[in-house]
Amino acid sequence: MPVADVPVTDMPVPDVPLPHRPLGILAALPQELGDLIEAMRAESGVRTVTHGQRDYHLGTVHGAPCVVTLARIGKVAAAATVSALIHVFDVQAVIFTGVAGGVGAQVRVGDIVVANELVQHDLDASPLFPRFEVPLLGVSRFAANAALANALAAACERFVTEEGAVVAARFGTREPRVHRGLIVSGDRFVASAAAVIALRDALPDALAVEMEGAAIAQVCYEYGVPCAVVRTISDTADDHAPASFVSFLTEIAGAYSNAILKRFLEAKRVS
Ligand code: ADE
Repeated sequence: MPVADVPVTDMPVPDVPLPHRPLGILAALPQELGDLIEAMRAESGVRTVTHGQRDYHLGTVHGAPCVVTLARIGKVAAAATVSALIHVFDVQAVIFTGVAGGVGAQVRVGDIVVANELVQHDLDASPLFPRFEVPLLGVSRFAANAALANALAAACERFVTEEGAVVAARFGTREPRVHRGLIVSGDRFVASAAAVIALRDALPDALAVEMEGAAIAQVCYEYGVPCAVVRTISDTADDHAPASFVSFLTEIAGAYSNAILKRFLEAKRVS
């Protein structure tokens, strides 16, 4: 049967030979993954399993057994996808990569933010529970796994040292800086100066805003799976954000992701 005629199935999972406890790597959109799946195809070949309307790509990339997938946009999509990574593919840890809006005063387009903590900025069950707290879980801030976040940040620093000047010249951005701290997530594309001020008022240490990370971190927390989130800044969440986001996503995001994940995964192989 020609490949195009192969039906898309929700493949019964036990039929699929899975690598032993692979690393789960996900992004919201294909541009945010860069060439990761092509690199996997070249290195080990790729087995693709379709489950819950997501394609999960299994193989080895930069020496690491991985399952790579796209969550699509928003907290529910992210939570559903990471739940499948945990339950269907038995991932040992989860890495989320992608772009974000810069919120911290020092955070500019082209910088990189590695999360130490993540909060759902749009979660508010007050006065029943404190603002931002996940009801009945009693947690507002989900910590990234320190070892994974340190390894990701080290990969980002190596990227900046080795290629920062070239990247800045190529894309017309300033030389990238790597920040560590709070990433906030919500089901909203933030695109006004007023909204940024409101976020800074509510969460003064927020460095970046996106739409998935804290949902991933909550699910990983509930199942005891280590996770880390790295975001490249595509916009500063103000009135220019939609245009800046689109051009950064289409022209730049993949190059950052390739450079960071390659260094992160190669270092994992030797550690
Ligand atoms: N991801 C990238 N930019 C964003 C923004 N401004 N708001 C929410 N998510 C984003």
